[in-house]
Amino acid sequence: MPFVYEDYAESAEYIRRRLDGRRPEVLLILGSGLGYLAEQVREPVIIPYGEIPHFAVSTAPDHAGRFVIGNLAGRCVMVMQGRMHVYEGYTAEQTAYPVRVARLLGVHSLLATNACGAINTSYAVGDIVLLTDHIRLFDPDPLIGPNIPEFGPRFCDMTYAYTPAYRDAARRAAAREGIVLREGVYFYFTGPQFETPAEIHAARALGGDVAGMSTVAEVIAAAHCGMKVLGFSLVTNMAAGVLEQKLDGAEVTAAAEAAAGRFSALVTGCLPLLDGKDR
Ligand code: HPA
Repeated sequence: MPFVYEDYAESAEYIRRRLDGRRPEVLLILGSGLGYLAEQVREPVIIPYGEIPHFAVSTAPDHAGRFVIGNLAGRCVMVMQGRMHVYEGYTAEQTAYPVRVARLLGVHSLLATNACGAINTSYAVGDIVLLTDHIRLFDPDPLIGPNIPEFGPRFCDMTYAYTPAYRDAARRAAAREGIVLREGVYFYFTGPQFETPAEIHAARALGGDVAGMSTVAEVIAAAHCGMKVLGFSLVTNMAAGVLEQKLDGAEVTAAAEAAAGRFSALVTGCLPLLDGKDR
């Protein structure tokens, strides 16, 4: 059964009662191997997803499955330490569920992060990619089903889903931190198997720069309900077929850990710039 507005409202109310007056502004979703940033949140309120009515729990490796809500880099952030994926058996609507709940709590911006495989052969492991757009051609979409007009229109515009002003902010923050920032298009695959070399070849021909199994449903839900979005992918491996070698899930975590310093500097450098405005 699709969710109805009252489900989201009930989840939001449960969280609101735990917040002691905190008013989260930014939803920060931490992808595979990037969960450590949640440890930097000051005076956190921690809420495991399993406690929240209607919430799915994350079962992916290295995804703690909880909200950590508090102050990070001067912003009140709602950190998702771990997210839900379609490959875990959830619908796209379930994976995007927390975004709408965050919106009801007053959150105006989404900062989504993930681990990815590089389709673009000029990228290298360890590169951070600023997402300029995404491609989701055949896979599940979180807005399928009855539209909930309290969140947004039936047909929602995606032209500026990755907020241009936030992309500028990211470029400035990266320059200030001395971090080289790539820019590219995220190509969504459901997984959980890594792609075949032929799929990566096709994704490259279609305009994809990185491949990943998350983020897109959350960004669509955020765009639908008028949230501003910033997205970063960390290249944890070259995508299938780019190198003459097999892919291994363990390299994803290792590469994410190796980039921890740069990645946290970039995220915390961007947060003060995410003011909910598009200019
Ligand atoms: N493909 C899809 N998702 C990923 C990859 C990949 O190569 N690496 C990390 N997440």
